[in-house]
Amino acid sequence: MKRILSVVFSLLFVTSLCFANSRPGKTVLFTQDWRFHLGDVPNGQDTGLDDAQWRQLDLPHDWSIEGEFSENAPSGTGGGALPGGLAWYRKTFTMPLTSKGKLVFVEFDGVYRNSEVWINGHYLGKRPYGYISFAYDLTPHLIYGGGPNVIAVKVDNSQQPNSRWYSGSGIYRNVWLTTLDPVHVEQWGTYVTTPAVNAQSATVVIKTKVSNGSNSGAPVNLTTIIQDANGRVVARSVANAVAAKGAHAEVSQTLKVLSPALWSDERPYVYKVVSQLQQAGRVVDRYETPLGIRSFRFDVNKGFFLNGKSVKIRGVCNHHDLGSLGAAVNTRAIERQLEMLKEMGVNGIRTSHNPPAPELLELADKMGFIVMDEAFDMWKIAKTKFDYHLDWDEWHKRDLEDMVLRDRNHPSIFIWSIGNEVMEQWNNNPTGGTIAKELGAIVRNLDPTRPITSATNGVSRDNKVIMEGGLDLVGTNYAQAKLPEFAKMFPGRPIIGAETTSALGTRGTYNLPSDKILRWPRKWDEVLKEGNPDFTCSAYDNSSAPWGSTHEETWKLVKKHDFFSGMYIWTGWDYIGEPTPYPWPAVSSYFGIIDLAGFPKDVYYMYQSEWTNQQVLHLFPHWNWKPGQEVDLVTYFNADEVELFLNGRSLGTKRKRGDDVLVFWRVPFEPGVVKAVSRKNGQVVLTREVRTAEEPARIVLDPDRRKIKADGTDLSCVTVKIVDRNGTVVPTADNLIKFKVVGDGTIAGVDNGYQASHESFKGKQRKAFHGMALVILQAKQKPGRIYLEATADNLQAASVVINTR
Ligand code: GAL
Repeated sequence: MKRILSVVFSLLFVTSLCFANSRPGKTVLFTQDWRFHLGDVPNGQDTGLDDAQWRQLDLPHDWSIEGEFSENAPSGTGGGALPGGLAWYRKTFTMPLTSKGKLVFVEFDGVYRNSEVWINGHYLGKRPYGYISFAYDLTPHLIYGGGPNVIAVKVDNSQQPNSRWYSGSGIYRNVWLTTLDPVHVEQWGTYVTTPAVNAQSATVVIKTKVSNGSNSGAPVNLTTIIQDANGRVVARSVANAVAAKGAHAEVSQTLKVLSPALWSDERPYVYKVVSQLQQAGRVVDRYETPLGIRSFRFDVNKGFFLNGKSVKIRGVCNHHDLGSLGAAVNTRAIERQLEMLKEMGVNGIRTSHNPPAPELLELADKMGFIVMDEAFDMWKIAKTKFDYHLDWDEWHKRDLEDMVLRDRNHPSIFIWSIGNEVMEQWNNNPTGGTIAKELGAIVRNLDPTRPITSATNGVSRDNKVIMEGGLDLVGTNYAQAKLPEFAKMFPGRPIIGAETTSALGTRGTYNLPSDKILRWPRKWDEVLKEGNPDFTCSAYDNSSAPWGSTHEETWKLVKKHDFFSGMYIWTGWDYIGEPTPYPWPAVSSYFGIIDLAGFPKDVYYMYQSEWTNQQVLHLFPHWNWKPGQEVDLVTYFNADEVELFLNGRSLGTKRKRGDDVLVFWRVPFEPGVVKAVSRKNGQVVLTREVRTAEEPARIVLDPDRRKIKADGTDLSCVTVKIVDRNGTVVPTADNLIKFKVVGDGTIAGVDNGYQASHESFKGKQRKAFHGMALVILQAKQKPGRIYLEATADNLQAASVVINTR
């Protein structure tokens, strides 16, 4: 009994720290103590099978990230050159006698891919799509009061390639166990809309699906309350006798919130709707739904308006991987990505090209991002041999419906995207229009409150997805040369840059001169001729994919055209796979504004200077060059002017003219110190320096957080720098750094942002790249301390302590 209590207690404890839970107390994380076997196992679902020798692990888990990079990986470099394969997961668990008579569901936020699930040997079903959330009813097959239950999950990601980017493999998102009274709110059973919003009041309509499976004829009452962010009740409605015995019912209630605090990207105010079911005086279910009160529209001439105010969508596209953590969901890792993007001035996220982890949407609600939630990267026609087109006919309706049902209450979602650059849009293919219409109808039927788009390239009037698909919002990818014409091309229709830019860069690499732009060729032999021998791309913002344009070029255009509601830049963060422009040995992308390790590339500060009210002055590149070499010193800033000094001599003061986003000086290199001073109204605002680094001398460890939660998932991301004896980062340093961790944490991943590195993300060492590396520490569930030590040959070592509580 004591043991059961402690298990229950620890489940509750963990749950209280979690996101993505609409039923606290009744839905608990089901992620600990799983067994894992890579490879097929005959009858892996059998309850009698002895899995004691299988590896024990906690979910979320991605087995691909643990593998080795290989030129021959069937996923190709597009998929990150990491292995796919097939694996089994099993978990043995007990259910208390008190759960007898209740309903028990297992809920998967996402499994990549082709998952099949069994409980106690009974087959529950298959779910091919790797990005969709799904649940199974375990009730009829469970043993209560001691006898072990075995859940088995077979995951098959062996057919490759099936993705154009790194997907990860396994149960890579959270899993939940929900125990319900026969009288309950159904899964994704609320739908909250705000049909009328103004400063004085908001009308909130809440539709609740109630299921009454109880034997009792006692009436079921539904109380719906709205709480503000401090938990104060601001509206309440009671509906009596809502669902008779054995019935399902949908109850509609209309509530008013007076003087509502509006949700916006700048002030993301989230209310909570609490739906409480009572029967015979007993609360039998309590279901929580986020509520953001906001109004918005996409205007044909003036773009996007939020709460009556014109707002340019300054968005980025991201894939779902979390760098060295792979696809395995970690809330803090997602939060870190979003924090850095917010800091840069980003206010929008496109979940390219699939439904995201629920945690991302919860964070977007709280942090204020305008989300484009996207369903698919392909429809019926393949992009890669084994991709979702194989499952299209059987599954697309169900998957699309489930995405909308799961996500439609998030205030951060403003746009549904039914697809990305689907092949049906080419060659006048009429199915482009018919499938788009079908998908649009599926979405609209479940949520008519948000516009539907499809991200289309080949932006033209021949594109049947755009012209005949019945889309509310034209979603353009690239075609920037035609951007000024878009309004005329699609008269009377609002337009969003669903995907733009595709500029390329490697942190710390600079190809001179900075104003010579390289539009990468498409053929490998030419790429290899044009490219850098170390498979890097310049971070001067002077290179882009041939279909794209540099950050500077794109932003200047987008900024100028009011009708263009904004853009989602390809991409915010680098991601694993799709290493355009290079072939192997490159294995991760160059598109990010932030590299895979989470270090900003220089152009981050161009956006920050344009998009935020913070004072910004960024001076680059480093100052280690050949004597006499002409080097472009660039500044991004938002004061009136910048003066540059080399070894104390002024090189002059410059101001931006017209639509400039930077100023630069071409300077013959001499060792020493470059200093930039920005001024506003003649007053110094900021100064920045870059110095010539000497030989590497020591390691510096710089954690983003020194105190983290002892919850088994929280992270401290430690930046590792190789500096000279004066503390200047050595831009050429590539020392191998070895990490040792003792205490109450583990190393969750190591990285350095280098796109052609084949070092293991799960290793305990990493080479520095341009003087930097990253080590991610993960807390255990026990409060205490994590000690990290970093050593390297011929360098002074460093150590740091992280507290977990
Ligand atoms: C787009 C595509 C993205 C990515 C990008 C790279 O066309 O939608 O998924 O492949 O190109 O530039």
